[in-house]
Amino acid sequence: MERLDKRLAASGRWSRTEAKALIKAGRVAVDGAVCRAPEQKVDDGAAVTVDGSPVDSGPVYLMLHKPAGVVSSTDDPREATVLSLLPEEYQKRGLFPAGRLDKDAEGLLLLTDDGPLAHRLLSPKYHVDKVYYVEVDGVLGESDVSALARGAVLGDGTRCLPAGLEVLEGGRSARVTLREGKYHQVKRMLASLGKPVIYLKRVAFGPLVLDPALPKGGWRVLNLQEIEALFRH
Ligand code: URA
Repeated sequence: MERLDKRLAASGRWSRTEAKALIKAGRVAVDGAVCRAPEQKVDDGAAVTVDGSPVDSGPVYLMLHKPAGVVSSTDDPREATVLSLLPEEYQKRGLFPAGRLDKDAEGLLLLTDDGPLAHRLLSPKYHVDKVYYVEVDGVLGESDVSALARGAVLGDGTRCLPAGLEVLEGGRSARVTLREGKYHQVKRMLASLGKPVIYLKRVAFGPLVLDPALPKGGWRVLNLQEIEALFRH
């Protein structure tokens, strides 16, 4: 037997405070009956639901709007990591980012403790599209679109897979779509065109799109449709 708010927080999906708020709002049911008392003791075998969906301690999937200035690793002796933006419950769960963004880059980062899914999403075999909004020093045009469509050749001679470039108004910003994830790839590709990146933000990762309601540094749990879309991908 444990307290209902503790049971919810143990799922890693809500903090204890959030769990209490959900319970008081009447969104939590135990064995089918709404329970508004966070201190209510529940049996280990009881079926606990939030908004009708079962709560369990299965894998966690979070969307983070990474701000510039934090590193994408889980542990760093000198720098603030993306994990430091999450509540304590999540910091203890062994979450890691599926893919990385540079320290100065912003945007969508998927954090999970589901190793097999992360592995599939990052594997070159599965070709998960990543979409970036970039601003560059220079003006992008049709020749740049063709160069990336042929496959950019980086400064060290590495050839990239064909990538999408949608030049936005004025040519100083664009959307870049990659099907692979080489080190600093967007910056190196655009540098190879002589148009260095001055701002970089990931706006989509496979079927996931950065939630416009999430402020920089904000995060939320993926909803069921988003999780299903990741698995279908
Ligand atoms: N490409 C880059 O250059 N940096 C990132 O953070 C992601 C893609």
